[in-house]
Amino acid sequence: MNRFDVVIVGTGHGGAQAAIALRQQGFAGSIAMIGRDANPPYERPPLSKDYLSGDKPFERIMIRPEAFWAERAVELRLGTSVTRVDPEMKLVELSGGDTIEYGHLIWATGGDARRLSCPGGHLAGVHTVRDRRDVDTLMAEIEGGARRFVVVGGGYIGLEAAAALTKLGCEVVVVEAQERVLNRVAGPELSAFYEAEHRAHGVDVRTGAAVDRLAGEDRVTAVVLEDGEELPCDGVIVGIGIVPSVGTLMAAGAAGSNGLDVTDICRTNLDDVYAIGDCAAHANIWADGAVIRLESVQNAHDMATTVARAICGDPQPYEAFPWFWSNQYDLKLQTAGISTGHDATVLRGEPESRSFSVLYLKDGRLIAIDAVNRTKDYVQGRKLIEARATVAPELLADAEVPLKDLL
Ligand code: NAI
Repeated sequence: MNRFDVVIVGTGHGGAQAAIALRQQGFAGSIAMIGRDANPPYERPPLSKDYLSGDKPFERIMIRPEAFWAERAVELRLGTSVTRVDPEMKLVELSGGDTIEYGHLIWATGGDARRLSCPGGHLAGVHTVRDRRDVDTLMAEIEGGARRFVVVGGGYIGLEAAAALTKLGCEVVVVEAQERVLNRVAGPELSAFYEAEHRAHGVDVRTGAAVDRLAGEDRVTAVVLEDGEELPCDGVIVGIGIVPSVGTLMAAGAAGSNGLDVTDICRTNLDDVYAIGDCAAHANIWADGAVIRLESVQNAHDMATTVARAICGDPQPYEAFPWFWSNQYDLKLQTAGISTGHDATVLRGEPESRSFSVLYLKDGRLIAIDAVNRTKDYVQGRKLIEARATVAPELLADAEVPLKDLL
């Protein structure tokens, strides 16, 4: 068959959940899912955590057992890229030359890991952490004796990878260009805490440090900083963000500047074409309607459900509440809400106790919480944020008073 009622491009969390949600909603039409990745859909968060540290094998990070997709009549085309979209003819062209016609197209391609553009950025031994193959290559090098790593980028990928590598007995230097780690996603209190934790675990954290070039003949042997310092290493991990994978759809006429512009039901400007997940720029009600891309499992998952509903004739606007998490060492960070635009922060509990929360306020209203080893605060704080509650900072700061009492 070369026509499917729904063609999903991308086999990450968004793509997989779109197929699952369509069947859950009773969609009986044909579904094809096309993915560049050669593996059936798997969870990405463990790639920088327990898959990298070897604690979880691949079978335990699969989104569904392999047989599930055939049982639900979802045709998988793995190891295959979409090279062209024709929105007039409603068809996609695949690497290898096949074409498939679609009734609805769901673009769930996520993003590609940004690469270092400096000299040496493409040497062997330089890794990104975005898909299974990236991590398998890295793990094989560690098994082969690689021990000293420089991690470029102090975001979630960089810090989680640093924690996993430390657990494996590696020596790690983290090089972050900004003055603090986690600058894109968290406030200074949290950054300072995580920097101290990594240092306490033996990680050499360098902030405000710029990479000039990577040295080596074929393989990387050192990272050279702009001040001339050389950091000798057996391997480099690059965690400097993602670039949304949208070129093919934009070449077909899709609108967008930072990813693909979508409506409140995740529709693009092209007929019957939707975009979900990391690559979808949408007006988020939890960010006061600002147009943003959210790079998270929650967003991919909930947008997939939104599109499945729309295709099944029950459209409902995307208003899902944003949440995130990160595991590093024995620290569980749980985040609810979006802190962008906050004008005050409140610290609740003592960072020294390794169980505390940072609450973010805007015009007196609670908009986000970062909870470290403090699940109760996360669960109760989330309710306060969802209720759009205005709470006095001194009450939020009083760790003796449960947040639920402030609702
Ligand atoms: P990121 O954007 O969160 O962090 C990148 C970091 O690299 C920033 O701190 C930035 O200042 C720094 N940086 C950028 N260019 C640099 C350079 N040339 N030299 C040194 N530092 C530089 O992106 P990251 O960590 O790569 O993560 C990629 C994606 O994966 C994100 O969407 C992230 O949210 C997601 N992710 C989420 C996790 C979670 O929710 N727990 C875990 C792992 C990844």
